[in-house]
Amino acid sequence: MGAAANMDTPILKVEHLSMKFGGLVAIGDLSFEARRGEITALIGPNGAGKTTVFNCITGFYKPTEGMMTLTRGDGTGFLLERLPNHEIPAHAKVARTFQNIRLFSGMTLLENLLVAQHNKLMKASGYTVLGLLGIGGYGKASAESVELAKHWLEKADLVDRADDPAGDLPYGAQRRLEIARAMCTGPELLCLDEPAAGLNPRESLALNTLLMDIKNNTGTSILLIEHDMSVVMQISDHVVVLEYGRKISDGDPNHVKNDPRVIAAYLGVDDEEVADVLVSVGDEQVIEQLDAEPDPAHGPAASSSMMAGAVSDTIGHSDEAGERITVSPGASKAQQMDAILHRHPPAPDGAPDRLTLIKGIGPVNERKLNEHGIRTFAQIAAWTKADIAAAEAYLEFDGRIEREDWVGQARQFAAAKQGGSE
Ligand SMILES: Nc1ncnc2c1ncn2[C@@H]1O[C@H](COP(=O)(O)OP(=O)(O)OP(=O)(O)O)[C@@H](O)[C@H]1O
Ligand SMILES: [Mg+2]
Repeated sequence: MGAAANMDTPILKVEHLSMKFGGLVAIGDLSFEARRGEITALIGPNGAGKTTVFNCITGFYKPTEGMMTLTRGDGTGFLLERLPNHEIPAHAKVARTFQNIRLFSGMTLLENLLVAQHNKLMKASGYTVLGLLGIGGYGKASAESVELAKHWLEKADLVDRADDPAGDLPYGAQRRLEIARAMCTGPELLCLDEPAAGLNPRESLALNTLLMDIKNNTGTSILLIEHDMSVVMQISDHVVVLEYGRKISDGDPNHVKNDPRVIAAYLGVDDEEVADVLVSVGDEQVIEQLDAEPDPAHGPAASSSMMAGAVSDTIGHSDEAGERITVSPGASKAQQMDAILHRHPPAPDGAPDRLTLIKGIGPVNERKLNEHGIRTFAQIAAWTKADIAAAEAYLEFDGRIEREDWVGQARQFAAAKQGGSE
């Protein structure tokens, strides 16, 4: 291909994507498209497989099956599952941010954005010492790179802090810096993994402004994983909903918002109740699907109990720097959860609390916690740092329990309950 891509050619086409970890089907036969120039949101409850989709697109995981076609604006097509992962940013022009912020916290903001352009700088230097010393193309490329970095610092409303260490920034500003850094690589597809998680309303607004600016004023299309439905509804053009690795809805935000399967997934109701809702809206096609033989790897009960067995298959993959990472065995994670229960058993006469009142705990995580005997605010209120670390590892929620302050929230709810019962 060489001719400019037609606007109708999707920038990303995912076909029959599957990713299995041992016996756990993290993604099952997923197909969707992201259109050029749009913001496509990928949503779904915790553990639905959203980050795994990103890890396949960006080459961190080689999918078990499926095809992911990226078509650049000039019409060049790339089969992402076939590209070595270091070629995905450079050739296919895909950039990403991570669910847990990854910045060089000791470097200044400007330095972070220059490092992102490292490949371009090295090329301009001709990979020679003279080049690096500024004789030849490097000086010019460097000036251009500084200009580009400044441009994105301005767009991200961070230019005043260009010379501060990235680690000194407030959380929401670090999120915008990560996006600025990704934009400095000139991506055609920008993949953002939960950029709004943990942001306050003001930071959330600044993020929306930045994303709308990228959408309207650059050629970059956005694929966005997001839990915050208000962000999704406000800025996305198209929403794809996953649950237990399968697509359950796909359409514009209004369509998805009113889809009974999506409502059911977010409310965490039983399949029987879902069926009731669907019958009441007369969705025969979906009712037929529900009637079909259930997939044992995807029932809500199956997936949580599979944590112990399936996740114990150690998976190796490469991180940003190409370094091998291995995921620690899941069985011991489950045992650590049981150890938390031993340290903080529920009061013998205590009724269970609605843990979903704690911001950050959705129905899926409530169920996982309940399965390990954690049922009350008082139990979570008593968690130590080690308990938090064990729960974060088990729920695959690195850093979030701490950041969302589940323990502090639980203390307040526990205190309010005590106050109410006196
Ligand atoms: N490297 C891995 N090894 C084993 N299992 C994994 C691995 N990565 C993900 N999983 C499992 O795959 C499933 C999907 O995880 P994933 O992180 O993609 O979900 P998510 O939708 O991003 O969830 P969240 O909203 O909590 O970020 C989970 O059950 C998870 O435990
Ligand atoms: Mg995730």
